[in-house]
Amino acid sequence: MTAASRQEKLAAIFKSATVIPVLTIEKVEDAVPLARALVAGGVRVLEVTLRTAVAAEAAKAMIAEVPDAVVGIGTILNGDDLARAKDLGAKFGISPGATPELLKAAAAGDLPFAPGIATASELMQALAHGFDLVKFFPAEQAGGIKALRALAGPFPHIRVCPTGGIGEANAAAWLGDPNVVAVGGSWICPAADIKSGNWAGITAMCQRTMKLLKPA
Ligand code: 3PG
Repeated sequence: MTAASRQEKLAAIFKSATVIPVLTIEKVEDAVPLARALVAGGVRVLEVTLRTAVAAEAAKAMIAEVPDAVVGIGTILNGDDLARAKDLGAKFGISPGATPELLKAAAAGDLPFAPGIATASELMQALAHGFDLVKFFPAEQAGGIKALRALAGPFPHIRVCPTGGIGEANAAAWLGDPNVVAVGGSWICPAADIKSGNWAGITAMCQRTMKLLKPA
């Protein structure tokens, strides 16, 4: 796969998503009902973060049992995590940041990958490795839409998925930004709902959000 086709694959996944839930799964048995609840609500592209001991197993179960979900791995911190994501069968990878080692590994591989950036210098490093679609993190805390507008001055062609501080109140404004292809966040799958197994509540929240952000 060429770097360009890898990037286009990622862009297609993100554009199809509109909203990408950032999932932190504590119990592996929650993985499949959670993925089913999200998909039932019209949210198909899922980021399973490598933040818990069961994350990889959870992603594996979703991939095996929820074929309508497009499962990616988040919180990729190094080349080993990237290789793990690929071995699991993830469709894409996302990082909150990027080290030279990680950018090099991702550029040499064929897993669609979005490095994280919050500054012009970080963005320049990502671009130098061929990554023009980046996660802007932490989006609200790093200056919000105004900061992204400023970054788009010198880098007008970047494609961005902001995460960090995004919720029902500001997701539409972010999606209205010309450089934004999708938004990500944990608000669409509240930890309390996962803990209590409120799958119907998660589906309802997804339906409401998708209706608001992606009207038919
Ligand atoms: C991420 O990794 O993208 C963030 O943890 C998501 O931030 P949020 O919890 O503010 O949505």
